[in-house]
Amino acid sequence: MRPFDDIDRLAAWPALDKVAAPARDLVNKLLTNRKVADVLHGVPIGHPLHPALVQLTLGSFVSASLLDALPGTRRSAGTLVGVGLVSALPTIAAGWADYSQAHEEQQRVGIVHAASSATMVSGYAVSLVQRLRGRSGRARLWGWGALAVGSAGAVLGGHMSYHQALGANHAEGYPHIGPEDWTDVGTLDELPEGAPTRRVVGDVGIVLVRRGQEIRALGERCSHASAPLSDGELTVEDGQECLVCPWHASVFRLDDGKVVHGPATAPAPTFPTRVRDGRVELRVATWPGVPAS
Ligand code: FES
Repeated sequence: MRPFDDIDRLAAWPALDKVAAPARDLVNKLLTNRKVADVLHGVPIGHPLHPALVQLTLGSFVSASLLDALPGTRRSAGTLVGVGLVSALPTIAAGWADYSQAHEEQQRVGIVHAASSATMVSGYAVSLVQRLRGRSGRARLWGWGALAVGSAGAVLGGHMSYHQALGANHAEGYPHIGPEDWTDVGTLDELPEGAPTRRVVGDVGIVLVRRGQEIRALGERCSHASAPLSDGELTVEDGQECLVCPWHASVFRLDDGKVVHGPATAPAPTFPTRVRDGRVELRVATWPGVPAS
């Protein structure tokens, strides 16, 4: 049996829902400000915020515990524990924001990840108190114990990112698998005006939105968690027409796929279209942000 099979069993264990579901509901109840939610997801930086902040928090704790194994490093180690504890606040907030928009299976692993991370942070908080009281032996032991628990939690976090693809860009593959040449997707007359419409081009699904002679084309799978964007609704944000994801309400600009609101942080891939002799054509194998020739 492979060691990580146990984590898959965790993801398939419904008993965890007794804790995971109320935790998700509580976060959704508290996190109602969209601007704050966008920042916590990482929309302004175009990348999930939680894993970026984890570098600082976990890096500080690991460094502190390594220094604790060396002579004459008490002050430096204490400072790093303090940095880890302060940075843990936004790290935890960003993690809960992502958790609140995750699948059930991701949340089951996530709730155990959160419990182990909370144990680690509490352990380092006790370690800091021991340091301030001059009990450096106990402080070191608390830190090492906390790090052991936190490391197990970090493995779960990595599993959520790499195995369960929480925070990954689910639309990354389009340029790799779509047809390179201009491809026919039907007549202009068949496309309804102002309604997201699904077409299949080669092996990939595309969502088309027609406004008169102008056709905007986006990858059909949401970059956040693969929802079918053709089931989404159109809206207007800052004067620009956008598409709202049907699952977690990420908002993508039609013109360039930019994320206006999360939880998605990666843009929807957009594709050039043209109308020839009343037929719509598009190219898929183009890279986001790179103009098609
Ligand atoms: S699948 Fe979550 S916002 Fe689209």
